[in-house]
Amino acid sequence: MECGSYQLIKKSSECRARRGKVYTARGVIDTPVFMPVGTHGSVKGVAAEFLKSSGAQIILANSYHLYLRPGTEVIKKAGGIQKFNSWNSPMLTDSGGFQMFSLSDIRKITKDGAEFQSHIDGSKHFFSPEKSMQVQKDIGADIIMCFDDCAPYCSDYEYAKNSMELSLKWAKRCKEEFYKDDSYKTQSLFGIIQGSVYNDLRIRSAREMLNVGFTGYAIGGLSIGEPKKDMHSVLKNVLPVIPENKARYLMGVGMPEDLWECVERGIDMFDCVIPTRNGRNGQVFTSLGKINLRNAEFKKDFSSLDPNCACPACTGYSKAYLNHLIRSREILYLSLLSLHNIYFMVDLMLKIRKSLKNDTFFKSKKEFFEKYYSRDK
Ligand code: GUN
Ligand code: ZN
Repeated sequence: MECGSYQLIKKSSECRARRGKVYTARGVIDTPVFMPVGTHGSVKGVAAEFLKSSGAQIILANSYHLYLRPGTEVIKKAGGIQKFNSWNSPMLTDSGGFQMFSLSDIRKITKDGAEFQSHIDGSKHFFSPEKSMQVQKDIGADIIMCFDDCAPYCSDYEYAKNSMELSLKWAKRCKEEFYKDDSYKTQSLFGIIQGSVYNDLRIRSAREMLNVGFTGYAIGGLSIGEPKKDMHSVLKNVLPVIPENKARYLMGVGMPEDLWECVERGIDMFDCVIPTRNGRNGQVFTSLGKINLRNAEFKKDFSSLDPNCACPACTGYSKAYLNHLIRSREILYLSLLSLHNIYFMVDLMLKIRKSLKNDTFFKSKKEFFEKYYSRDK
């Protein structure tokens, strides 16, 4: 199978959801899948062997960060990011554009690329589509992303149109640069559909990206503040344009609610920092809903976090102990809660895939939410 290619296993009889497989040089991924985020190549607070034990199949890293530190020279010398971080399993890198837009101080965009100042030391750098491809080849992840421009939420139509058209031009240059050498034998390049909340722009972006032709397609520029109904409307309009035999990846989205709603609309891949970021704040996902373990109500609660979870935090410790760790600022909680939240997301995707296999998607979705929202009643 071509690297990054998608194999459709089963279409839901109930909705646009589907089960499938994404093939990479470092293994096959069952979809729909959730990808934990390791911005610097490390999923914050979680060692690779624990990450493996959660059943996570693929993780994401950012080329913006890795380019600035430690630099691609180091990663290349290590034999690629998967050797460097000991994950040794499938990885995806984002292209850098989106992180520049959210992190670096100065950003000057021209048709050639983006000039930015490092958020670490203020040094000046320039990323072009070609540069992003070179950086992502050096990092060596299995799936790499086109360099794109993401229009901020609330952009007017003209701005969104120009940004979408610029992303399209850059995507063509990314493809050209990507196929210049043999990288395509072990890596694959995904295109990113933009166009903000304007459905005609989204559909044009999807059609034209398809004309250029990529191994898979991402939908970018969502979950940046727009109402959920706008995100769902974009998915409803864009996903039917993408052929069935291509993976569809929704970038930066992955609250438990979103996973159900967006799989239902035909998404195969998700990534989100929420499980680890929330874990570091004491926020925990459980089958009975979200809780903040810092709260005093858990001080003498000796039950486990989630009786249905097989993670080290749930099988080894009580809520009272975890509450104590947080309040004492014992750094073990960072690791345990991040790991638990990753287990939760991975298990949720497993549940979703099972429900697709058994044609019980809506029944399982309803059961999940009845329990998940039961605390609020
Ligand atoms: N991550 C979340 N949204 C986006 C996007 O629009 N573009 C890129 N490159 N990464 C993202
Ligand atoms: Zn757990």
